[in-house]
Amino acid sequence: MPLDRVAELRRRQAAALAGGGPQRQARQHAEGKLSARERVNLLLDPDTFEELDQLVRHRCRDFGMDAQVIDGDGFVTGYGLIHGRLAYVFAQDFTVFGGSLSATNAQKICKIMDLALQNGAPVIGLNDSGGARIQEGVLSLGGYADIFLRNTVASGVIPQISAVMGPCAGGAVYSPALTDFVFMVDHTSHMFVTGPDVIKTVTHEDVSKEDLGGAQTHNSRSGVAHFLAPSDQECLAHIRELLRYLPQNNAEDPPQLPSTDPIDRAAPELDSLVPAASNQPYDIKDAIRLTVDDSEFLEIHEHFAANIVIGFARLDGRSVGIVANQPAVLAGCLDINSSIKAARFVRFCDAFNIPIITFEDVPGFLPGTEQEWGGIIKHGAKLLYAYAEATVPKITVITRKAYGGAYCVMGSKHLRTDLNFAWPSAEIAVMGAEGAVNILSRRDDPAGRQAKIDDYNERFATPFVAAENGFIDAVIEPRETRGKLIRGLRMLENKKVSTPRKKHGNIPL
Ligand code: HXC
Repeated sequence: MPLDRVAELRRRQAAALAGGGPQRQARQHAEGKLSARERVNLLLDPDTFEELDQLVRHRCRDFGMDAQVIDGDGFVTGYGLIHGRLAYVFAQDFTVFGGSLSATNAQKICKIMDLALQNGAPVIGLNDSGGARIQEGVLSLGGYADIFLRNTVASGVIPQISAVMGPCAGGAVYSPALTDFVFMVDHTSHMFVTGPDVIKTVTHEDVSKEDLGGAQTHNSRSGVAHFLAPSDQECLAHIRELLRYLPQNNAEDPPQLPSTDPIDRAAPELDSLVPAASNQPYDIKDAIRLTVDDSEFLEIHEHFAANIVIGFARLDGRSVGIVANQPAVLAGCLDINSSIKAARFVRFCDAFNIPIITFEDVPGFLPGTEQEWGGIIKHGAKLLYAYAEATVPKITVITRKAYGGAYCVMGSKHLRTDLNFAWPSAEIAVMGAEGAVNILSRRDDPAGRQAKIDDYNERFATPFVAAENGFIDAVIEPRETRGKLIRGLRMLENKKVSTPRKKHGNIPL
């Protein structure tokens, strides 16, 4: 072994590990951020990281860059294990040219994305970057576009997860936006297409970086981010947790973990969950937690469109995606944001073979000009499309209201839902009794109207008409829900649906 070569290798490796040097590393830590390598090591199982392209160097010779060459060029890329399963990772090192994307860095990312797609395992991107490397101009822009293409080709084939752990601006935001789940770290991460200075010049609006594109903003206002983490450490732990629910790729089933929660465990608390008065709120998350294995529910998009709840849980140890109207927020109405939120989740579950369980309590679509002019017609259609298109096992439980178009949308039997259950408290009808009587008997005196409202409630606001027509497969007592769902999922284990040949559908975007 030529000793001088070994010495050279070690020198280069040490240079790569040093990144932008101790001062910049110290600044990174002072800002409450971990270094790229610390992040990778926390994300992966201990001692499993295999780095690729550690010795890559940028090729830029302009702006004095030939005198500033850092081995690895600041991006840390490679593969390792998460809970013993293969995962690919890239991490941008802000200490090297602000984590900016050079042409060589783009190649590094593309290399691991190609490997991930070829070998069927998730890709996790840890973003902390000043964007396109200014010195490299269009070479950097081209590098971004190369990544966007791969994000798109890999969509629906392997899970793609982005963590934004620092700046992420300009067109760079579009790689995370194309991935399945976006995590942001509170106070240290920002995403925007144009920053506060440009906004001030163009629209004269004054807005801080945090208000414009901080983690709270994107988790609660824009819905760009799905998860809000208080620190780098918790963000990485949360990504690991999310992956426990996902298959490695679209040809695999999601992992089944051993569960000690009895299959037929009755949940008597569910019998009194729905209040006697039909306009009283309750928390649908109680229904979810009382039903799933060990009450464990990983909520997604917790702070956005809270009138619908989505997330992962397990039944019988198997991952399921949960979609649930939330009567405690906006009475559980469907609106633009909740339709988009749930539609994307239903499509993710369908792409990755994760059965969909729907808890339904929806009085209808939210009325108002804001919703109509905002396009609730096309956005609501997204959710309808997603449910109708999904061929994974689907089970719906109507806990209370299932009115109007929302009845059809929320995993109704007519959209190829396999099992539709209703609790005795279910009200399945075109509209509520008062609205119906207002239209059908508007000229009746008050006493006559009240009699008709009572009659309507008695005859139509029940699960029985739907059950008589076979649109509800069984009216079940709430306490039995868990057992019914698990037996249903077991029955549907080998479900196969054939669909007409097409290149792809045209979901109303
Ligand atoms: C090269 C960059 C850089 C970049 C930062 N640096 N951004 N080098 N290209 N894009 C370098 C700085 O020169 C500095 O080097 C170091 O990174 C840290 O930057 P600071 O400014 O000291 O850090 P901070 O004060 O924390 O500010 C971070 C920042 C700011 C907000 C990200 O650096 C910034 O505004 N950068 C430019 C962002 C930008 O406009 N990028 C292009 C966006 S458009 P030294 O040597 O001093 O440590 C884009 C298009 C993508 O990305 C298109 C895809 C289709």
